[in-house]
Amino acid sequence: MTTRRHFLGAASAAALTAPAILRGAATRSWAEVEKILASGNVKGRLAKDEIPTPALMLDLDLFEANVKKMVAHARATNRALRPHGKTHKCPEIAHYLVKQGAVGACGAKLSEAEVFAAHGVRGLLVTTAAVGKHKIERAVRLAGVAPDTVFCVDNAGNAQDLNDAAAAARRKVWVALDLCVSGRTGVMPGAPAVALAERVAKLPNLQCKGIQAYAGSAAHVKGWEKRRAASLSLMTPAIETRAELNKRGIGTPWLSGGSTGTYNIDSHIDGITELQPGSFLFMDTDYNVIGGKETGEVYTDFGNALTILATVVSRPTDAHVIIDSGFKAMATDRPFLPVPKDPELKFSFGGDEHGKLVSSGGALKLQVGDRVEIIAPHCDPTVNLYDRLYCTRGHAVEAVWSIAARGMSQ
Ligand SMILES: Cc1ncc(COP(=O)(O)O)c(C=O)c1O
Repeated sequence: MTTRRHFLGAASAAALTAPAILRGAATRSWAEVEKILASGNVKGRLAKDEIPTPALMLDLDLFEANVKKMVAHARATNRALRPHGKTHKCPEIAHYLVKQGAVGACGAKLSEAEVFAAHGVRGLLVTTAAVGKHKIERAVRLAGVAPDTVFCVDNAGNAQDLNDAAAAARRKVWVALDLCVSGRTGVMPGAPAVALAERVAKLPNLQCKGIQAYAGSAAHVKGWEKRRAASLSLMTPAIETRAELNKRGIGTPWLSGGSTGTYNIDSHIDGITELQPGSFLFMDTDYNVIGGKETGEVYTDFGNALTILATVVSRPTDAHVIIDSGFKAMATDRPFLPVPKDPELKFSFGGDEHGKLVSSGGALKLQVGDRVEIIAPHCDPTVNLYDRLYCTRGHAVEAVWSIAARGMSQ
């Protein structure tokens, strides 16, 4: 079992180089801070302890190192990289990733992709199908704004609807066959997928890009070898389907899939041409516990760049303090608690607006007004709770990025 101390020691070593408790009174008035924030020009003008809490924080050094590592891996293994935007929901990050070598961005939902497109992001892949009259209309409109956008389809009726709407708009729309490799959406691999591909090939206003196959149930399998076996077994039917389509001259060799947990597995499976991981950007505690290829039971391939900055608002006893961050400030759907960056502290939820901290060792040093950072337990739904991402280097706030696609779940 991964002990908390073991996890903190290995996974958060880099994060711990910055002070975990931010003491000292803010020097500027709130009115001044508000003005700086409204101006959007924060570099050199704002410190970490001036940010109103709870706040979502991005450690730029760790984030950039995460991106560099994934980009280098994709390049070395000759795979395209289209990181999933469902993790960050932030156009600045999507643009940064493209600058670093990504071919574009995935959007989990149409509305997320609409936001990215409106902010000039191209190379979009919408990883869930647009279903129903209005969504189809919006998909075709999105293709008008960003013509290289790829939409997933997994049934003939939906493909026909998309084709008809595209024809009415005198447009061609890119589609990918979403394959069901992991018990969620998609057409089943093999004969059903081939039949669908043949139907799509006959629809004049659709262009088939290839296959999307996301093996979500392999991503968090604990232990690298077990995860490798899971991914291989789930992806094999997709690889076989792709080979069959190529044999019949339908579609293209393109096959997109993979996750943070399987990036260094899927990149060695022949036939997977593109990786679409998301969480590696931020790295949450949910992922830390799955185990790494060389690092045993703690997954340290990527650093914990995303934290929640909280303030101690009460010290009812000498044994515990209460912070201003609870369920509404950090999301987790797993049976473990958020982990403070300071290894001396232990967190437990204290309701919607509050969390409780105790010392795991000696006396509790925290006082009312002190600030602490908690590592994001599950990054995607945590990001979805915030409008802004405060990007820091050391103690300085270097940028504030808008989580513009927050709440875009349609
Ligand atoms: C379709 C799809 N692709 C890729 C990902 C990225 O996975 P991860 O954040 O685990 O890297 C997800 C995550 O849920 C997904 O749903």
